[in-house]
Amino acid sequence: MTRSAEPISGIDTPALVIDLDAMERNLHRMAAFARQAGVRLRPHAKMHKSAELARLQLAAGAVGVCVQKTSEAEALAARGIDDLYLSNEVVAPAKLVRVAALARSLAARGGRLAIAVDGAEGVARLAEAVREAGAALDVFVEIDVGQGRCGVPPADRDPVAAVELARRVAASPGLRLAGLQAYQGKAQHLRSPEARREASAAAVSAARATRQALEAAGLPCPLVTGAGTGTYALEAASGVYGELQAGSYLFMDRDYADNAADPAHPPFEHALFVKAQVMSVGAGRAVVDAGHKSHAVDSGLPRVHDPFGRRAYAFENGGDEHGILRPLGGAPLPGIGETIWLVPGHCDPTVNLHDRYVGVRGGLVGGRVERVIPIDARGALT
Ligand SMILES: Cc1ncc(COP(=O)(O)O)c(C=O)c1O
Repeated sequence: MTRSAEPISGIDTPALVIDLDAMERNLHRMAAFARQAGVRLRPHAKMHKSAELARLQLAAGAVGVCVQKTSEAEALAARGIDDLYLSNEVVAPAKLVRVAALARSLAARGGRLAIAVDGAEGVARLAEAVREAGAALDVFVEIDVGQGRCGVPPADRDPVAAVELARRVAASPGLRLAGLQAYQGKAQHLRSPEARREASAAAVSAARATRQALEAAGLPCPLVTGAGTGTYALEAASGVYGELQAGSYLFMDRDYADNAADPAHPPFEHALFVKAQVMSVGAGRAVVDAGHKSHAVDSGLPRVHDPFGRRAYAFENGGDEHGILRPLGGAPLPGIGETIWLVPGHCDPTVNLHDRYVGVRGGLVGGRVERVIPIDARGALT
């Protein structure tokens, strides 16, 4: 059991650890950026799945948070988060009953639920659920601005699809047309700033054309929302996007650190780590007690954190419960029981493997445990 004020050495392994000082720097850097850019910040809470961290983001100026799943919305709403945007399509009738009930209960306490749609059937089902519950919902029409996932084609590719869908939303009692959802997920992890700029410019142009098409058809488009940690500054400067949905900036995983930084944009630092320890040492290798069950590998393996450039190890896949370290550049093998800090390849699915974060204050070397933070929406997949 991890106790408050315990030294870091007392945290049992593997454990998901937040460097609170680094996280708070990230938190305030993004909040200050959005403020200065004059755009709303609605961070994606699918990344951290924690009401406590959402509250910190709100206190720093976020207008609310995004979630991706009905059950994530329920988990955060149950813990006091009032302004939620489900930036995803929900079409199953059983889930829509929950969406409508949540919209009603949030509205009753002065909060708000919004949702995305990308098809006529989805709008009809949503309208029916809302009617039966006596609820109301803000609805964003999702356009596909280059990701090739959900969303209707934008107006520069199809002049009628988004307008048609927006008209259906506007004509449905209980649904309020709130604007456009325009997230370009593929642009986030393009390695060069030039490639990200090009992909973001195409998304901006598609969103602009669609907004103009809605307005030309007499439909309101109060807000275009989207953007992630790789491109947020580009959408913020576009004059089209009014709200940023970045999530990973708070923790910064290895995959994001592999992007070549754009010197014009604020940097973020690693704040999420898996604490592991060496459990076996063999010829030319050390084995740590953290494998796939402690960190997600969809975006590649973790990096061994080496902030002072003293002891470099390559991390090799050791299976579910093990990781294998190979010394680089003549680094000595670590000894049995030594602490190894891993930077996960992808923060969102790594977080979903753990029940809690251990928040440490004062750095990873001499710091102490400040508090344990529950991962409230862990496993909230429906
Ligand atoms: C719809 C949507 N918005 C925003 C984000 C946030 O992106 P990031 O965590 O890369 O900042 C995501 C992440 O996948 C997303 O799916």
